[in-house]
Amino acid sequence: MSVEIFDKVKSVLTEIEAAQPQTAEEVEQFRIRYLGSKNMIKPLFGEIRHIPNEQKKEFGQLVNSLKQAAELKFQELKSAAESAADQVEGTLIDLTAPAEPIALGARHPVSITLNRIIDIFTKIGFNIAEDREIEDDWHNFTAMNTPEDHPARDMQDTFYLKDSTQMLLRTHTSSVQARWMTKHKPPIRIIAPGRVYRNETISARSHCQFHQVEGLYVDENVSFADMKQTLLYFAQEMYGAETKIRLRPSFFPFTEPSAEMDVSCFICNAEGCSVCKYTGWVEILGCGMVDPEVLKNCGIDPDKYTGFAIGMGIERQAMMLYQINDIRLLFENDVRFLNQFKSAW
Ligand code: DAH
Repeated sequence: MSVEIFDKVKSVLTEIEAAQPQTAEEVEQFRIRYLGSKNMIKPLFGEIRHIPNEQKKEFGQLVNSLKQAAELKFQELKSAAESAADQVEGTLIDLTAPAEPIALGARHPVSITLNRIIDIFTKIGFNIAEDREIEDDWHNFTAMNTPEDHPARDMQDTFYLKDSTQMLLRTHTSSVQARWMTKHKPPIRIIAPGRVYRNETISARSHCQFHQVEGLYVDENVSFADMKQTLLYFAQEMYGAETKIRLRPSFFPFTEPSAEMDVSCFICNAEGCSVCKYTGWVEILGCGMVDPEVLKNCGIDPDKYTGFAIGMGIERQAMMLYQINDIRLLFENDVRFLNQFKSAW
């Protein structure tokens, strides 16, 4: 009897080791047969009653080894099935399928225009100086030689911070001239791009926020001729090699003498069109020699140094370059408008 039962257990062991279930269903049958709640190994443990005492230990170990063999086999089958599933999944990747489309954005026309201006000036050695939009009265007005009674200081033009007569949203990037000159000694050669604010009624031609680029060059012996040459270079890089410039006398509190610069209309080749209002010229910027008072206010010796400053609006130039007839389009973030600049740089 005990020989028979030993043989039986051994044959089950061989059976387990030889088993080669293929499908998930066969693996499950294997599990039920050897490891399920009514598995066929359990009753073999019961047989231990009939085994002579001196063989009980050996028999117990043999039956236990059945259970371990079944568990080991089942783990192997399971992990083999999992890696097979991974491989199947792997082969399902269709390498010829077109890639998911990536929705690319477009640069904003103001950024495109600004980047061009920055490129043009950095090529001739200007550095970029950025500063704060919330400014104090001194940097925005006083340092820039703008007297107390100047209309630009009027509450109607300037956004002052709540309950303040000192803190405001800068009305021009000229405030960065004062910020820079109080901290740096000449030679100074910077451009300061950024957003500015004015309390104006919003219309097709004006907005309460827009962007400017300020230029400032201060050193010994900087002359009006240096400014003119720099402006001609800028105009021709920006609007084409044939572009002409003209300077008209003007007034700004922070420059003396002051001028406004027009460029020959690049839309109609100065022949007359709606962009240049049939004059052949388009106004681009304000400029002038830095007023000695401004240098003095910022701690720079006006007897030793001179400089020129320029200030230009970016939206106006973007509107001309892209023939946009309403400034509000630049602030509405309508993707139907913005998508049209996809091919621009
Ligand atoms: N700050 C002036 C404005 O906002 C523009 C300007 C004019 C800046 C002449 C300058 C300049 O630096 O020299 O209207």
